[in-house]
Amino acid sequence: MRKKIIAGNWKMNKTPSEAVELAKMLKEYVDTDKADVVFCVPAIDIIPVGEVIKGSNIALGAENMYFEESGAYTGEISPAMLTDAGVKYVILGHSERRQYFAETDETVNKKVKKALEHGLTPIMCCGETLEQREQGITIDFVRTQIKRGLYGISAEDVVKVVIAYEPIWAIGTGKTATSDEAEEVCGAIRAVIGEVWGQDAAEKIRIQYGGSVNAKNAAELFAMKDIDGGLVGGASLKEEFKDIVNY
Ligand code: PGA
Repeated sequence: MRKKIIAGNWKMNKTPSEAVELAKMLKEYVDTDKADVVFCVPAIDIIPVGEVIKGSNIALGAENMYFEESGAYTGEISPAMLTDAGVKYVILGHSERRQYFAETDETVNKKVKKALEHGLTPIMCCGETLEQREQGITIDFVRTQIKRGLYGISAEDVVKVVIAYEPIWAIGTGKTATSDEAEEVCGAIRAVIGEVWGQDAAEKIRIQYGGSVNAKNAAELFAMKDIDGGLVGGASLKEEFKDIVNY
């Protein structure tokens, strides 16, 4: 039985003092062991939010990381900086990073490998554009993203990765994929994991859905066979997040 994982992606929201307030408020409601709950917060909020959630069941997550150990990479954050700050999860390859910051499957692959080396759990994102969906190439496209993003990773390690399927047309738009649409792609992702890494890995790996998840649609989405929770943007910044976690 795969444990559900519900992660908030705060994106570029909340100053450190605002982040502390939000984390304090949410902590009251989402400190549970029934599901893995993660707050993925802006880099500058990691330390103060870590202080707030210390001793709770809530895990700390980052929204990005560089694939080198250290050195002359102005503005970047290393895996050791994250682990030293108590971070357990890191979102990698979010579509916003691919779109605005030139992330590619190759850089995502390097980051996933580096995160695993440091014992961080990557939340690797994938998902198609509206145009790709209309062209009928969603499954082909997402399969390729998975194969390339996870290229060269062993079956033993691949199960440590969390995959987030996030159709780009559903992110921040209020337009959620139907549970059947989401399940179709999450099932296809599990199938490609099975083809490349074996049935055992396919059964173990956790796959989230993301894209306008809210308190109203969470229960139906998370009930689908191949959906093991959600990556939640907008609704993770509000009290509503408690209803998603306690769906
Ligand atoms: P959203 O964002 O829930 O605001 O659509 C999801 C995400 O981008 O992770």
